Amino acid sequence: MKWEWLPDYDALSQRAASILLESIQTNPRIVLGLPTGRTPVGMYERIVAECAREYHCFRDVITFNLDEYSGIPSDHPGSYCTFMKQHLFDMVDVRPENKHIPDGVHPDPAAYEREIAKAGGLDLTFLGLGSNGHIAFNEPGTPFDSRTRVVALTESTRKANASFFTDGNVPTHAITMGIGTILESRAIVLLASGASKREAVERLRSGEITIDFPASALHSHPDVRVLLDRRLKAGGPAG
Ligand code: GLP
Repeated sequence: MKWEWLPDYDALSQRAASILLESIQTNPRIVLGLPTGRTPVGMYERIVAECAREYHCFRDVITFNLDEYSGIPSDHPGSYCTFMKQHLFDMVDVRPENKHIPDGVHPDPAAYEREIAKAGGLDLTFLGLGSNGHIAFNEPGTPFDSRTRVVALTESTRKANASFFTDGNVPTHAITMGIGTILESRAIVLLASGASKREAVERLRSGEITIDFPASALHSHPDVRVLLDRRLKAGGPAG
């Protein structure tokens, strides 16, 4: 696992965007695993800004989102489908048939796995980090060989994401790639920023591997980069 400490959130976002765009330059047909949440917003902003200059960035790129809420339509304001349209898909030239988000209304986890396999597997996957160590929606206790499936969300995760559901109806379930699915990605970049991640980052840095802390599964992967806001460093100023 390679650790990169960036001075602040902007620098972290710029670095993540550069890694993603350079990977497309190297392989224009790359298969990307893409995250949602607050952390990657800055990365997407920079990607969109770059792609406005050279509007062919995503022409042959294939994308698979990590997860989606269950029980809400894809056009719901809180859905990850809406998030991706607002932050990336509506502004870049990714082809409709090349972008994939798990279907939260009619979940078909096996079909999602088949689509990933058909595309040749994930080349590069970006992840956020839950404050309880979750990756995608793989909550503590998830086996490391888990595949795409429907899961129940923990109360802490529902609380962390409640602000995206102004009507107060925070979904109870989601469909998510499994930890096993994610670990098959050829390369992984994990992003963490903000004071709420401090404990999770420290736990990841401890090197302990346990299913109680899903992100620790990444220690067994040969190509993981962790991009962190320097303010998360133990002893550093509160972020
Ligand atoms: C959500 C998503 C995860 C994301 C995590 C952290 O639960 N399913 O994929 O990494 O939250 O989100 P944030 O970046 O908003 O802290």
